[in-house]
Amino acid sequence: MKINKICCIGAGYVGGPTMAVIAKMNPNIQVTIVDINPERIAAWNDEDLSKLPVYEPGLADIVAETRGKNLFFSTEIDKGIDEAEMIFISVNTPTKTYGKGKGMAADLKYVELCARNIADVAKSDKIVVEKSTLPVRTAQAIKSILHNVGGDVNFQILSNPEFLAEGTAVEDLLKPDRVLIGGESEGAIESLAKIYGSWVPDNQILRTNVWSSELSKLTANAFLAQRISSINAISELCEHTEADVTEVARAIGMDSRIGPKFLNASIGFGGSCFQKDILNLVYIARSYNLQAVADYWEQVIILNDHQKRRFSDKMISTLYNTVSGKKIGMLGWAFKKDTNDTRESAAIYVTDHLLNEQAEVAVYDPKVRKSQMYTDLNYLNTRSEEENEALMTVHNDPYEALKDTHAIAIMTEWDEFKSYDWQKIYDIMKKPAFIFDGRNILDKKEMNKIGFEYSSIGK
Ligand code: UDX
Ligand code: ADP
Repeated sequence: MKINKICCIGAGYVGGPTMAVIAKMNPNIQVTIVDINPERIAAWNDEDLSKLPVYEPGLADIVAETRGKNLFFSTEIDKGIDEAEMIFISVNTPTKTYGKGKGMAADLKYVELCARNIADVAKSDKIVVEKSTLPVRTAQAIKSILHNVGGDVNFQILSNPEFLAEGTAVEDLLKPDRVLIGGESEGAIESLAKIYGSWVPDNQILRTNVWSSELSKLTANAFLAQRISSINAISELCEHTEADVTEVARAIGMDSRIGPKFLNASIGFGGSCFQKDILNLVYIARSYNLQAVADYWEQVIILNDHQKRRFSDKMISTLYNTVSGKKIGMLGWAFKKDTNDTRESAAIYVTDHLLNEQAEVAVYDPKVRKSQMYTDLNYLNTRSEEENEALMTVHNDPYEALKDTHAIAIMTEWDEFKSYDWQKIYDIMKKPAFIFDGRNILDKKEMNKIGFEYSSIGK
């Protein structure tokens, strides 16, 4: 099928950047991103590019180049579906918070709503591409809805999981390690392959069956998360011995079978994917009664929760077993640098833990909005919104946030933190001044020289 018009349902962290790059690389295809959230669409259409709802290095330039030419943002979902030959489903699939599979399985209600919407509206044949991360066999469910509700229209379903990482989304999209397309119909697969083919070499476009494609996405994220939990497990051992986790990571990373990437010990992984996808994998394994498989992968999450918890526990015990009434400065709220996304960020859980101990937390993050931080904290439902506002303050200036603090927790590896005037920070803090570096970004010797009591992960 020749594709002239694409519609993407869901203008989020995946849909936005992916479609912007597809539009840039395919100037002859009209790409419309639709969303039920009018504020989000308005932000994508904002003249002021600093107001785009997703912050990604390089993204604003691409939006400036393509928006209004062949890239459009709209709330007219039905119109978008009707006009397009190819429809991407890129809506959120959070972990279920209710009913069967609560806390484990992916909540597919948004995906199902999209499928029903497409089935209701479509008057001509469509290729439907699942872009959201989904449990294995979701394509089958989408197919069944489309075929049973959709009348005479012919639908082809493809699985095309996205492997971009936030903070490097544009770079990852422009130079992907591979593009994965799973499907039954060779024609549909090739229609999509052609779109990626405008900038991705054909040997990097993998064609598989639908289920392999779906499972590959979950597996890729599970393997990546597992590496982090593995090095984080070693980091705890390092803290009890004379070993240094950075040195261990370098040493093992030079083994070409292991490789050097994704071996940074940290406060624990966050983000919208890793935990959700592993929980999904565990849920699927349990549903087939594969207990050993489920337990194996679940351990990755258990270790990650442990890592976050032991970070705040260490802060409390180092601060003479009490943080009550003490001001703690928190640098970073995003789950990693170069993004304004905070989903599952370790900062949320560490703050919650510290507030339970009656600390006052003062936060600074270069990109995350104040309202988002309170939303994240309130979502945990540990205390009232008023209490959270009284105990946590948010600052636009890091030096203001860190003034009179007893300790600093570094939660995100933002580059700017490294270039701060640490002597000045030391001078405005209470003494002894502690730094708990959850990202290993500062130099211990330098910090000690200034006078800080400095501790980091795995050293
Ligand atoms: C991940 C996958 O990398 C991507 O392929 C998939 O499409 C979506 O999920 P993302 O969550 O955006 O991407 O970011 P990623 O760079 O993978 O980082 C995830 C978390 O792991 C972050 O909290 C990061 O700080 C942490 N991390 C990463 C570490 O703690 N140590 C590392 O060595 C690498
Ligand atoms: P992701 O990280 O997967 O991109 P986001 O939460 O950033 O997830 O984005 C998903 C987007 O999908 C949100 O902007 C949400 O409003 C949108 N969305 C969810 N359900 C629907 C739907 N039925 N129709 C249109 N948009 C939807």
